This record gives sequence, structure tokens and C-alpha cells, in this order.
Amino acid sequence: MLLGEAAPRPHRYVQPALARRPARWERGASGPQSGHSGMPPGPARIAEPAIPMRLGEAQPRPHRYVQPALARRPARGYRPRMHGFAYRHGSLHCEDVNLQTLADEHGTPLYVYSANTIRDHYRRLDQALGSIDHEVAYAVKANSNLSVLKLLVAEHAGFDIVSGGELFRVIKAGGDPAKCTFAGVGKTRAEIEYALQQGIYSFNVESEEELRYLNEVAADLGVIAPAAVRVNPNVDAKTHKYISTGKSENKFGVDFDAIPDLYARAAKELAHVKLRGLQMHIGSQLTSIDPFIEAVEKVAPLATHLKVTHGIEFWSIGGGIGIVYHDSLDSGGSGWWEGKPEGERPLTIAQYGEALFPRLEHLGLKILLEPGRLIVGNAGVLLTKCLFEKRGKAKTFKVVDAGMNDLIRPALYEGHHEIAPLKQPTGETRKVDVVGPICESGDFFCQDRELPDFQPGETVALLSAGAYGFVMASNYNTRPLPAEILVDGDTARVVRKRQTLDDLIAGES
Ligand SMILES: Cc1ncc(COP(=O)(O)O)c(C=O)c1O
Repeated sequence: MLLGEAAPRPHRYVQPALARRPARWERGASGPQSGHSGMPPGPARIAEPAIPMRLGEAQPRPHRYVQPALARRPARGYRPRMHGFAYRHGSLHCEDVNLQTLADEHGTPLYVYSANTIRDHYRRLDQALGSIDHEVAYAVKANSNLSVLKLLVAEHAGFDIVSGGELFRVIKAGGDPAKCTFAGVGKTRAEIEYALQQGIYSFNVESEEELRYLNEVAADLGVIAPAAVRVNPNVDAKTHKYISTGKSENKFGVDFDAIPDLYARAAKELAHVKLRGLQMHIGSQLTSIDPFIEAVEKVAPLATHLKVTHGIEFWSIGGGIGIVYHDSLDSGGSGWWEGKPEGERPLTIAQYGEALFPRLEHLGLKILLEPGRLIVGNAGVLLTKCLFEKRGKAKTFKVVDAGMNDLIRPALYEGHHEIAPLKQPTGETRKVDVVGPICESGDFFCQDRELPDFQPGETVALLSAGAYGFVMASNYNTRPLPAEILVDGDTARVVRKRQTLDDLIAGES
């Protein structure tokens, strides 16, 4: 029995919620909110417009590559945005909801996500590969909140998971295990058994040892495990060293040159494994198309060879598309993208599709994408309140109520998050460090940054915090995990409650 047979791709359908009137944040804007992005009011010429979300009719798949979003110009009055966060009437909003209202009602630190930004990113990426047989398998590790997963289930996304826990979440969100690929260098027996029982699409294995172990567990259960090996193409992703994964010195994948032999040995010796595909992922937060092109061009002949010799049916080219962190707020308006000179414009979804489509189109393989950050990164913010301003001899510190336990990216990767007061700033700026309350010198959100001079009692947003934010949060210093809110148009819902003091000691004695 072959577990995890590919589910037939469902027909695209009209998402009922999309037949609604556009939310105010999607419509033509005038007044204060159009000022921030520097865009003129009314319809704008745009570099890469978001999909007009109010239409929502089924998208016919074009035969040849056309930039799908451009094929449908937004209707008059519709003002596309790249994400749902902008100042409106002097206050920072998520879609149609005032963030200060949420902070007052639910307290801080508080994660807030924009549902329409998530849908829009998913759809634009799904359309970027045009007529190629493909699936966007959202990398659950980026943000695994059940309601985020449910949004993507409704879009018919696949899921890239890295643990039994993530598979459990996907199933709880209504996702189909047959659309799940299971990555990671160290899966346990319990995780493999669970995933086999659930019938996942493929185990993406990272070593010969792991492939043999998968074969052993599948034999014990009397089943055949569908698998793909992750090839390490030895391509420099030119990203932070902690999130670069496609070089020979990284722990990920099997050397490019060793792959054909491994597939040949596995076909002969591993009766309980069916090699169904090939996988790669060269790194995260890539802001140039070049490493993607280099990797795809290098690995495409190998994928073709494995298709001919072993009948593989899919090639996962991984995730890794980067997002804008430094100008996060301004990049929500398409005018920001237009204003960037060619060469300085960060990688766009359309550019990704245009570059890769002709290199993948002729292979006759199903192409999987595994984006995480791109889908949710700019769809989330972390709200935090300023507690004190501490003026030291050398520096001024703004002490806020969020810490590195709530958002660890600055401490872990020197990650940059733009900091924006919820009240639209008009006056002075000051060079400050914004720091949390944790007993670590690494507990800061910025150092020596010129920022609007927000005061104790005011709330600020740490932008682009939707990916690798809450999922990496911990109870360090015995601090409760923050609440999470999902905004959809003018509706805001608590999608995870703030932890209580009792939650903090649950299960202990
Ligand atoms: C195998 C694999 N696929 C996909 C991703 C998602 O990457 P990103 O969030 O940069 O798209 C990762 C991230 O670490 C990964 O390891």
C-alpha cells in the first residue's frame, strides 16, 4: 500500500467571503491614510498590484506565462496595498481596525495579523507559476496559529511541516495530510509513524541514514513510505548565516553529486520507500533572484534525470523569498515599489514567477513551493507599550513591555524590525535603544536608531513580525505568551488567548 497518494487538485472555486464589498482599507483612499505611502489618491499605476480581493472569481490558469495580477487591472477606486498596515486619520490601522483600540482592549504585548494580506500573498504566489502544475505548500513553522492555517486551508494550500506537532495542527485546522510534506533532519519514530498513519504526501529526508530509518519504520508498519531526498546544491543564498541552508557546510540535505547513487541504491535496497520527488531549499530571506536562478538551473537536469530513471513526479524548490523589513510600513503602498530604482527594488513575487517559470515549465514535474515568511511576515505586527524612558550617560533607552521572549529575531539573527508609534508621528525624533524587560543584554529591538520620540504609556508596533515571531516566543523569565488577534476587514478576533499565571505552571509539580 502506498500511503499519501496525491489528492486530485480541487477545482478552484469562488471564495464566498470574497464576493463581499471590499473592506475600506482596500478601497480608494483619500485623506490622511494616503499621505503615508506618498501615493496620489485614486487608482495608481503599480509595479506589482495585489489581486483585487473583492472580485474573487475563479482564475483560469493561463497557458503561457502572463503576470496574472497584471492581467486584471484593479477596478476604478480600488487602491491595492502590499500589506494591510497603514496610518489612517492619524492612527495606525490593520485593515479597517484601529490598532490602539486592540491594544486598549486586549493589552500588550499583542500580536496582530492581517487576514487579507495572508490571502493576497498566497494567491499572488500561487498565480506566479501560471500554468505549471504546482502547489504552494505553506511552511507552517513561520506562523502556526490554527486560524492562520485555516485561512490557508480555505485557499487549498499544501503545507510544509517539520514536526508531528505541526502535522497535528494542520489536521486540526482542517488541512489534508495528503497535501503535507514533512521536512527536517531528525524525525523521530513516533513522528514518522504518525505521519505514515495520516497518509502524508512525502517525507523530505536529509540523509541516507534517515532514508534507511524511514524504510525500517515503514517496514515495521507494513507500508511503503513516500519520500524525496533534499539535495544540497552548494549555492550561496547570500543571506544571514543562521538561515543559509544550501551550502555544503550546512547540515541540510545530501550533496548534489551523491544524489543519483543514493536514488539508485534506495531503489534496489529499500523496499518500503517509494522515491516520489526531489527537494531543495537554499535559505531564507533571499532578496535577490540570482541564487534562486542559480539553484534551479543547477538542479533542473538532476530532477529530469531522476524523473527518467526513477519516475519521480515532483520537485520542491523550497521557500526562502524575502520580505521588506527596513521600510516595512512604506512598502505597504505600491508607490514605494514604483519609486525604487531598478536594481534597488527587492525581489517581488512577479519577478520570481517570471524568472522561474521558463526554467521549470518544460520539466513535466509537479513543482512545490514552500514559502513561509513571504506569506505571513508582513502580515503581522507585535504591539508593545513603552513603560519608561531611561536616560543613561551614553544612551537613551525606551523600555517596552515586550521582550526577546516575545520576539527573538533581533537577538537571534540581528533581525531588523521597523518601530512605528500607533499615533502617527509628526514631531521630534531621538536616537534611542528600544529594550525589553528581560535580564539579557541581547534583549533589544533596536540600538542607536533614530525614532519618533514616543513617550511612556504610548504603544508602538514592531512591524513585519508575522513570521518567526510568535512561533519562536518562549516563557523565558516566566513571562506569559502574548495573545494573538486576527483582523479580517473590520473584524478582529482573538485567535490565541494571552497565557495566564496558571498556564505558566500547568503540568508542573
Ligand atoms: C525546508 C524548508 N522549507 C521552507 C522553509 C521556509 O522558508 P521561508 O520562511 O524563508 O520561506 C524553510 C525555512 O527554514 C525550510 O527549512
